[in-house]
Amino acid sequence: MRLPNETLDEAQAKACCADLYQSDLARLILGETLHPGGLALTNRLGRLMGIQRDDWVVDLASGRGVSAMAVSRAFHCRVAGVEFSRAATAGAAAASRAAPVASQACFLQGDAENPPLASSRFDAVLCECSMSIFPDKSRAVQEMRRLLRPGGRLGLSDVTVEPGCLPEELEGNLGQVLCLSGALSVNGYRQLLQNGGLELQHQEDASVEILKLLEDLESKLAMVKAWGSGFSAGIPQIEAMQSAPELLRRLKSLVQDGKLGYWLFVACNQA
Ligand SMILES: C[S@@+](CC[C@H](N)C(=O)[O-])C[C@H]1O[C@@H](n2cnc3c(N)ncnc32)[C@H](O)[C@@H]1O
Repeated sequence: MRLPNETLDEAQAKACCADLYQSDLARLILGETLHPGGLALTNRLGRLMGIQRDDWVVDLASGRGVSAMAVSRAFHCRVAGVEFSRAATAGAAAASRAAPVASQACFLQGDAENPPLASSRFDAVLCECSMSIFPDKSRAVQEMRRLLRPGGRLGLSDVTVEPGCLPEELEGNLGQVLCLSGALSVNGYRQLLQNGGLELQHQEDASVEILKLLEDLESKLAMVKAWGSGFSAGIPQIEAMQSAPELLRRLKSLVQDGKLGYWLFVACNQA
């Protein structure tokens, strides 16, 4: 899949991002769950949120539904996944029907900035690696709060970027769909939640998971290169492949300097 060079409007950005996360490339880079840390980090967030048996939970931007099904099984709760991509929603529903171990997860196509769900009905809202992509983050938080019953908890995990530190090539559309150019600083997420009327209860640094992801990417890239050099004709030396090792090295040093990371936040609807 090729990203357009021109700046995308909000609707185009959402559609483009939905396509990208459905691609084999996303699966290769991120694995089954589309966020750093995989299901271990999802379960950690679920425990921090205090999800209980029989709770009603929303997973906003549920992707392929892997987290929604896992949370439902681990915490014996009911989960409604809301996802912008129709293909991902259909895929998640099919995966849920075909799963050898049943879960109480269901999937709806919808926009996290306007989820098609009733107000004040949910005990918890989960949103993994997606707030950074939403164009209107305040609106998304307003909607999360609308869904939560009084005392309900929001669990957010996302990429954090300190202002002005991203390499130039990641400032445009590529950075947007990779959760980088739209990501906030740690303090930015705190402010976003507090300004949305939610009370922050816990935050946790999981940036080591980004480092693992970048190191994993380095090895995959090295493997592709080695594989390509085994053929006399070689594989096409596309520009991105040439510059990727240097870009990965810079991203790793940003993580080591505390400028790029992955954090968990838990906040409560006190209303
Ligand atoms: C990085 S993936 C994370 C998916 C999932 N939460 C996970 O952690 O496995 C981001 C997901 O957000 C979805 N998405 C982007 N914008 C959205 C929106 N406005 N409403 C709902 N889903 C959206 C994309 O289609 C994609 O599936």
